[in-house]
Amino acid sequence: MNIEINRNRDHKESIPMQITRQIETMIVEGTLAPGSQLPTERYLSSLLGVHRSTVTKSFEELRAVGLIQSAQGRGTFVSDSLWNISASKFSEWRSYMAAGLFRPTQTLLRKVRELTMDPIYLNLADGEMSPDLLPADLVADMLKKSNLPLPLHYPDSKGEISLRQALSSHLFRTSSISCRPEHILITSGAQQALHLIAQCLLSPGDSIAIEGPSYHYSLPLFGASGIRLLRIPVDQDGLLPDELISLHKMHRIKMVITSPTYQNPTGTVLPLARRQRLIQICEEHRIPIVEDQTFGSITLTGEPDPPLPLLALSGAKESILHIGSMSKTTAPGLRLGWLVGPSSVIDRLADAKQQMDFGTSPLLQHLVETFITSSAWTEQREKVLLGLTVKRNYMLAAMDKHLTGKAEWVKPTGGYHIWCKLLQPIAETELLERGIRQGVLFVPGGVYGADKGYVRFSFARANRQEIEEGIAKFARILEP
Ligand SMILES: Cc1ncc(COP(=O)(O)O)c(C=O)c1O
Repeated sequence: MNIEINRNRDHKESIPMQITRQIETMIVEGTLAPGSQLPTERYLSSLLGVHRSTVTKSFEELRAVGLIQSAQGRGTFVSDSLWNISASKFSEWRSYMAAGLFRPTQTLLRKVRELTMDPIYLNLADGEMSPDLLPADLVADMLKKSNLPLPLHYPDSKGEISLRQALSSHLFRTSSISCRPEHILITSGAQQALHLIAQCLLSPGDSIAIEGPSYHYSLPLFGASGIRLLRIPVDQDGLLPDELISLHKMHRIKMVITSPTYQNPTGTVLPLARRQRLIQICEEHRIPIVEDQTFGSITLTGEPDPPLPLLALSGAKESILHIGSMSKTTAPGLRLGWLVGPSSVIDRLADAKQQMDFGTSPLLQHLVETFITSSAWTEQREKVLLGLTVKRNYMLAAMDKHLTGKAEWVKPTGGYHIWCKLLQPIAETELLERGIRQGVLFVPGGVYGADKGYVRFSFARANRQEIEEGIAKFARILEP
């Protein structure tokens, strides 16, 4: 396609910024329509007489704000999920916001999140449990019984020592992870652990490898830090470790981020042999691994135990950072997660956390410590796993009834989600719009970097009736 872009070396804006701004204007004004293909980076760089990395930088910027998307082997396209973008959004604030470090969340995901706040929709999108599975009464009871004085001081930025001690025993008991309190950093959810890693351990221009598709594709925090996400191919059992070797040869991978157990969004469980091979390859090539275990302990009732986490396997312990969270087993509102790693890394990240937020609330830490050291933890966990298993079964039954012949899926053995492949894919914006008209919400797979035609359903939030109605409505939107 022909597009007209000018560059002016005397202009006070950098050349990449000039290119970014002109393409952005064309998208916002509609000269470049949603879904239309952009010229290749190579073509544009020769057209403008600039180095290819200049155009790459602009494309990365546009990709980070969700205006364009690249599909491996097919090229770069204007996002077909541009909601309500209009020229009127160009204001002084817009240029300030564009200059800020944080990138906006993908438009499609923002739209889904906004709508999930509205109770008129059947919510098969949220990665969050229904209120009946959250431990509201238990928490109220624990607070009532708590010994005064409650901790209200500035906390240790690594996390309160008593919680780290309790967590060290808890991780050994529940996941065979052996670590000392100095190897643990308490964070505001797993999300902050990922953010600290991106900010403190990686630099702009670094390439990291993640599963494709992956939850991590949905996080603008990597783009904001100038980090390139490269996909490790996966099959029904998760990532293919040997693919990492060629990826590393081509791009010098600085880090692998993986969710080996109940991966979000696919629900896959990496078999033991692949875990060991991944550790071996990363050890040989000196690539650290971040193991995101956020869903790792949600083994549904009656399903086989997954292999041990990477950190609990022998091998490259010193080069693994392990992330966990209370969000999926207990309650996301606690905003409490942790990162386990070598003490030198923990000290560095704790120092950054100190600068960021002075440490996680000691009141919450006290609550979580009381919870994981009491018998209530086991009871609550059993209740949650059973509740989720029942909901998964309702969803599978509804899918069998309404989606057979229209989609394919695999029964997940853990986590909150069913990853579903549509046999006749529909453009994601159109699919979501049809869903909204029918009153059902789900997450289109493109949010996670999947190829066209995938959808993530969550069974954790909705009740039986909502699950059944939601899937029936979804089946209707697939009809021509
Ligand atoms: C794979 C994965 N990692 C991390 C997070 C962030 O979780 P938290 O609520 O602990 O910040 C999520 C949230 O859904 C997730 O799915």
